[in-house]
Amino acid sequence: MIRCALVSGKGMGIMHGKNFHGLPDAKVVAVCDMDPALLEKAKAEFQAPGFACIEELLAGAEFELALLITNETRRIPPLRQLLAAGKHVFTEKPLCGMEGQYHVREHDCCIAASAIKEWRASGLKFGINYNYRFFRHFQRLHNDAAEGKFGTLRLVRARAHFNCWSHVIDQILWTMGRPEWVSVSGNPSEQGGWTRFIRMAWANGVVGELDGSNLWGYDDHPLRIQICGDTSYGEARGLDGWYRRCKGSSWPTAVEETWEVEKGVQEYKESFGRMAAAVIEAMKAGAQWPADGDAAWNELLFEAAVHRSALHDGERVRLADVEKACMAASC
Ligand SMILES: NC(=O)c1ccc[n+]([C@@H]2O[C@H](COP(=O)([O-])OP(=O)(O)OC[C@H]3O[C@@H](n4cnc5c(N)ncnc54)[C@H](O)[C@@H]3O)[C@@H](O)[C@H]2O)c1
Repeated sequence: MIRCALVSGKGMGIMHGKNFHGLPDAKVVAVCDMDPALLEKAKAEFQAPGFACIEELLAGAEFELALLITNETRRIPPLRQLLAAGKHVFTEKPLCGMEGQYHVREHDCCIAASAIKEWRASGLKFGINYNYRFFRHFQRLHNDAAEGKFGTLRLVRARAHFNCWSHVIDQILWTMGRPEWVSVSGNPSEQGGWTRFIRMAWANGVVGELDGSNLWGYDDHPLRIQICGDTSYGEARGLDGWYRRCKGSSWPTAVEETWEVEKGVQEYKESFGRMAAAVIEAMKAGAQWPADGDAAWNELLFEAAVHRSALHDGERVRLADVEKACMAASC
């Protein structure tokens, strides 16, 4: 039985807690929230002892896995405390964003770098909730690309509403790896989520584009990713579940596969529970988590490079240069 401590009595926290608690090999044995009313709520939900801060939780509860469901403005200090105490940690995305998740900057990457260094040296498990990896349509896109069903990969085209922003980046990196550079149009001083258009290229010659905005609604799917190879291409869309693979440059379009989610099922809703189950299975097997600290770091690094490029009028920014600067600046 893997004993979990849940940090957060808020909605997202309770939801994650219930997903882990409902698994046969995991149990929420302690809860923690600095807000007394939310702490009471969590205690009642899990019938578990409650603690008002991380220090008290560490002193008073025995557990292996912390479910740290705080937001991106207050993730890094408790993450470092928990790792220093030898706890495995599961958290939400993005790893750090002191001005909120739609405004991640290079500075956030520098703040997170120390936690990443400590995690890498610790031998502990640390992972992040990129739950879109458990949407079956995105899995189809990922697997088809990895299995060579598109031929040699050439082009990535993606767009996302900001509510899906961390995830669309993770999806691209999960399948394609880290691009070598980005070049970005947009104004980071625009309030809220700043509208941005990103060009990128990988070392193997693949090129890509991603645009992000909250100027449009949800009617036409809040995210879409298309990956094109020299023989075929695939596209995955939305939060419900839609995927299609077609032969390239065919007219009329030669559809090789279409997949649509079953009526009444939504991949978004199902994905949180699937992630929790996969984390516990990985822990039991001593295996790598479905999306670990390196995935969290790579998303943040991508966002940092995007921010730096936009600040410098679309200058080409190499991710390796940003990584070097952030690791050197970390405390
Ligand atoms: N994966 C997805 O699809 C998805 C969807 C929605 C939201 N999210 C993410 O979930 C997160 C939700 O965060 P939130 O708004 O619930 O977080 P929050 O930080 O506002 O609240 C978390 C709770 O934890 C408590 N808390 C925070 N730091 C603490 C500490 N050090 N010690 C004790 N208690 C502490 C707070 O009092 C609060 O009740 C966001 O990062 C968001 O990006 C993800």
